[in-house]
Amino acid sequence: MSSTVERSRTDMKELADYSEGPALTSATLEQPDGRSRIGLAWEDGTHTWLPPIWLRDHCPCDVCRHTSSRERLYKIIDDEIGVPDVSLDDNMLVLNWPDGHESCFDGIWLHQRRPGQHHFQPAIPEARAWREGFLPDHVEHRDFTESVSGKRAWLEALIRDGLVMLDNGPTELDEVIRIAESIGPLRATNFGARFDVQSRPNPNNAAYTAIELELHTDLPNWRHPPDIQLLYCLENDAQGGASTFADGFAVAEAMRREAPHHFTMLAETPIDLRFQDDKHDIAVREPIIRVDDHGVLREIRFNNWIRDALDLAPEQIEAWYDAYRDFWARLREPRYRADFELSPGQMIAFDNRRVLHGRGQFDPNTGKRHLQGCYLDYDMVESKLRVLSRHD
Ligand SMILES: [Fe+2]
Repeated sequence: MSSTVERSRTDMKELADYSEGPALTSATLEQPDGRSRIGLAWEDGTHTWLPPIWLRDHCPCDVCRHTSSRERLYKIIDDEIGVPDVSLDDNMLVLNWPDGHESCFDGIWLHQRRPGQHHFQPAIPEARAWREGFLPDHVEHRDFTESVSGKRAWLEALIRDGLVMLDNGPTELDEVIRIAESIGPLRATNFGARFDVQSRPNPNNAAYTAIELELHTDLPNWRHPPDIQLLYCLENDAQGGASTFADGFAVAEAMRREAPHHFTMLAETPIDLRFQDDKHDIAVREPIIRVDDHGVLREIRFNNWIRDALDLAPEQIEAWYDAYRDFWARLREPRYRADFELSPGQMIAFDNRRVLHGRGQFDPNTGKRHLQGCYLDYDMVESKLRVLSRHD
């Protein structure tokens, strides 16, 4: 249960919205662990207690926080933090510190930001694994460029599903760059800030090959591979060449359930990934599957072209290959894959550290195929969504 209370006078130096939520109904000094704490309770039944130092550190006043940058000026190292006098004034917590400083906190902001909320982010959707028959969300190019709701729908689908389509855009060179830059700066790599995936009838250069490209992630040989890839279709009238995708997290989760020893092998065994040419030699030693300390999947690095010589203990080698082949075989299973024929004016965007991409073989003598692409940082995708969601 929550109710709307009028926004208090306290400027929390916070651009996200904190105008709606349960009102703060009590604020008292308590000693739950034998030391002086500030106990807080809200009208929805939530309660917590905070050490005085947390509140002193988060004081939003103009002395403690810069008025325009909103950045913290207060330095927790300089003062002896005592126990404040505590009072409640119309959904506002008022603390008077022994040195004479006064701190005022908005009660709803405190409810949102009380410790234990694990990175309070109402605007950012949870990732959702693909199920069999996954179909991506489609957003009209016009809605994306002309409306907040269109851009938000695109950003939310990209974060949630790791893949989203944009339809009916112009077939203009560099439209992909304009779209990307409306989200954030391009992420450049050793291949530049943008790239062309192009084929021509009777190709005379390896860059225009038409061979099948197995599912992979781009540039896993970088310490930080590109996060988001945008691929914009300008021409596609060659026969074949469907774009194919798989949710690497869904595949890895299936392997964790069905062949846990293979999952553990790929998650706990770093291998070498490397790209080399005349100017570059970019290499890392990382596992194919990365999980965080809580076992949550964070990244897939899968690109068979740029695996370097396998440097593992001899007794590990066959077991590692067994696990690798299992993962690859699962990636090829139709139930995990989503195939799309991109049409001119259509753009696909996907999370390169979660979703693998590939391409079917095509016949370059039947027509032209030209995609333009670039990369974006995930931080910019989340940032844009937070900004667009500020005034919900
Ligand atoms: Fe690629």
